[in-house]
Amino acid sequence: MTEARITVNGQEAPIAPAAAHTTVLDFLRERGLTGTKEGCAEGECGACSVLVARPGVHKPTDWVAVNACLVPVAALDGQEVVTAEGLATPGAPGTPPTLHPVQEELAVRGGSQCGYCTPGFVCSMASEYYRPDRVAGLDAADDADDVLDADHRHEHGPNGFDLHALSGNLCRCTGYRPIRDAAFAVGDPAADDPLARRRDQAPPEPVATRYTQDGGTFLRPGSLAEALRVLRERPEAVVLSGGTDYGVEVNIRSRRESCVVAVDRLPELRGLRRESDHIEIGAALTLTEIERRLDGEVPLLGALFPQFASRLIRNSATLGGNLGTGSPIGDSPPVLLALEASLVLAAADGERVVPLAEYFTGYRQSVRRPDELIRAVRIPLPQAPVTAFHKIAKRRFDDISSVAVAFALDIDAEDGAVRKARIGLGGVAATPIRALATEAALEGRPWTAETVEAAARELRGEGTPMDDHRASALYRSAMLGQSLLKLYTRTTTEAVSS
Ligand SMILES: Cc1cc2nc3c(=O)[nH]c(=O)nc-3n(C[C@H](O)[C@H](O)[C@H](O)COP(=O)(O)OP(=O)(O)OC[C@H]3O[C@@H](n4cnc5c(N)ncnc54)[C@H](O)[C@@H]3O)c2cc1C
Ligand code: FES
Ligand code: FES
Repeated sequence: MTEARITVNGQEAPIAPAAAHTTVLDFLRERGLTGTKEGCAEGECGACSVLVARPGVHKPTDWVAVNACLVPVAALDGQEVVTAEGLATPGAPGTPPTLHPVQEELAVRGGSQCGYCTPGFVCSMASEYYRPDRVAGLDAADDADDVLDADHRHEHGPNGFDLHALSGNLCRCTGYRPIRDAAFAVGDPAADDPLARRRDQAPPEPVATRYTQDGGTFLRPGSLAEALRVLRERPEAVVLSGGTDYGVEVNIRSRRESCVVAVDRLPELRGLRRESDHIEIGAALTLTEIERRLDGEVPLLGALFPQFASRLIRNSATLGGNLGTGSPIGDSPPVLLALEASLVLAAADGERVVPLAEYFTGYRQSVRRPDELIRAVRIPLPQAPVTAFHKIAKRRFDDISSVAVAFALDIDAEDGAVRKARIGLGGVAATPIRALATEAALEGRPWTAETVEAAARELRGEGTPMDDHRASALYRSAMLGQSLLKLYTRTTTEAVSS
């Protein structure tokens, strides 16, 4: 194994002597690249956004913006990073650098006051600037299928810029309008733009890494077999994927582990396969990759993604990590329960397939053994035709659910009876649960206001919601019932207008 190295703004540098848990943010700032800022150290503000060359969806390489505060620098052994400093083109000695087009637009349109958030905005904006399928002239009117954009047409620019690319960036003093003006003013990359051209070559291959420093080891196994062997032999080893949960614990709760095993680049965890009776989604694909590669093929997932954290978080977060935490308020479990998904669990002695409905056993507990990885999620086909995901949270974007409800209903087109109902709930029990009593109250009955009102009363009684700082138990119960009524209203409105 060779020395761990990272390329930052075109310059290669050793990762040592950074500790194994050191974040990309701290590494960069230690090297004098202080444009990358720390605002919160927990993925909430985007001041630390940097660009990483990752496998692309429409070109070999995408420039993906990630939260540098959540990624251990050892995870980027052999990888390429660009910071706000690296986007500008250095001038001749004694002359200032030429600003990158997104920097130029932010400057001339007054998108930067104190400047603290600006490098983060610059990187998130540059990622969207280089998105290969950003098409000028595609505005929200062409994008009416998108659940959020139908209501929020102003969130797409005439240059195809999707303002959601900035949903993980906060600014405390400029006000967002000049920032939006800058985003909507950027053009297309010039033909000789080096970062645009870089997209046509493959990104760096993942590098098998064993990096030990200051009592911790960061391990990136070269194969799935090796990863599973390590997990069997070292029960204390902790699995790491996108790091959007783990990184917060490192920063805020000072979590230090003796051995971290990164699985996010293992090819076996990054497939997306369509079979006749199911779709298999690799546990280590990022949510952005799934969103873009499925492109609406699973409408219920399509409804989930825009409501899951921010683009910056989704650029790293995985389904494996969301299920691996076992959190009762994760957003994917209600959706995957409604879709009747199963998990493929891999261990050194073989694989097993576990229905998600049987996976959670208690608060942050599951049937997964410490030596097992979630390799993939399987969604059975055909999918139910009527689906919805309702996330009730204090903020519209980038917030944790108070309650989340996912519906997948099969309503007979002939007689209007509910043939099958699957409803997943989050935030109302120690684990994500199915709303079994409500499903029974719907199945076999006509999809009418009377049935739905009775089923909504049932839904209000599902689970054992608690009072906490996010919401009261009463509010959570009320929102469950409302969400079924909302779905009914949508289906009847759609039927009238079609
Ligand atoms: C600002 C912010 C906003 C967020 N918003 C949301 C939100 O709206 N909705 C939501 O649900 N979550 C949210 N989260 C939480 C987090 O982003 C998700 O849980 C995410 O899916 C975690 O994925 P990851 O790959 O980053 O996990 P990691 O942090 O890498 O891992 C999380 C846990 O899962 C385990 N794990 C990871 N991969 C596997 C695997 N393949 N097999 C077995 N175990 C594995 C790890 O050991 C670890 O214990 C948010 C987090 C932040 C910081
Ligand atoms: S410092 Fe706030 S998101 Fe990283
Ligand atoms: S310019 Fe001051 S925080 Fe954004």
